[in-house]
Amino acid sequence: MVIARTVAELRLAVVAARKAGKTIGFVPTMGCLHVGHLALVDLARREATCCVVSIFVNPSQFGPKEDFSKYPRPFEEDCRLCEARGVDIIFAPGVDFYPAEHSTWVSEEAVSQGLCGECRPGHFRGVATVVLKLFNSCLPDVAIFGRKDFQQLAVIRRMVRDLDVPVRIVAAPTEREADGLAISSRNRYLSPEHRARARVISEVLRRAQALVVAGECHAATLLSAASRQLSDEPAFRLQYIAIIDAQTLRPVQKVTHGSSVMAVAGFLGETRLIDNVDL
Ligand code: PAF
Repeated sequence: MVIARTVAELRLAVVAARKAGKTIGFVPTMGCLHVGHLALVDLARREATCCVVSIFVNPSQFGPKEDFSKYPRPFEEDCRLCEARGVDIIFAPGVDFYPAEHSTWVSEEAVSQGLCGECRPGHFRGVATVVLKLFNSCLPDVAIFGRKDFQQLAVIRRMVRDLDVPVRIVAAPTEREADGLAISSRNRYLSPEHRARARVISEVLRRAQALVVAGECHAATLLSAASRQLSDEPAFRLQYIAIIDAQTLRPVQKVTHGSSVMAVAGFLGETRLIDNVDL
């Protein structure tokens, strides 16, 4: 496994792989890898013959009061996990990945609005910018993104479409703990008590799915049932719960089979968790 620290080193490794007839599958991450990331790696390895994983804690997607400095960076453990999983190249640039006086940003202006975009101003501008930089550094054929970050996935798809970025985006299903909690690097911040209570999020989403299967299609009814269930868990501080169209991410009044998503975000203690399901 090659560990590239600069764009030039990454390009050398990628060009060598291409000369050997390989296709490039890319998994962008901020490190602190867990089974969710490893499932993305597995998918990249099914979609392409050379797997590149980037590990870069991107400062521009963190707000001033967010956890950039305390974001875990277990780099050696991440490398070990990648090697064991068959990753070919790790790209781990330093902070100079952003040149001094960097002043160019990618700003998606439709699907990045509302939901997490409203709670985390500037977040998706930071994500879109770094992802385009990563795509330009790695020039992948295919890139894999987790479905848990539903709005991020929508922003990236839009950016790729609007800016003609020559990469195929593949969404990977959300990996879950046995009690349903969506796997996330932030779960490790939860106290044992909050970890036990975190199951409420996926329970609410599963119940909404069951109500839809039973015939309920009014978003207002589904949202008030979900809000009631969440308010029964006093430790959970709701940020938003919404039923949205899967393409536009705009709120819908009625659920349409196959194109409506319920998305939720909130805090347990200081830890912000998000999740979503198809309805
Ligand atoms: O999903 C993440 O881990 C990050 O937002 C990403 C896509 C690696 C960009 O920094």
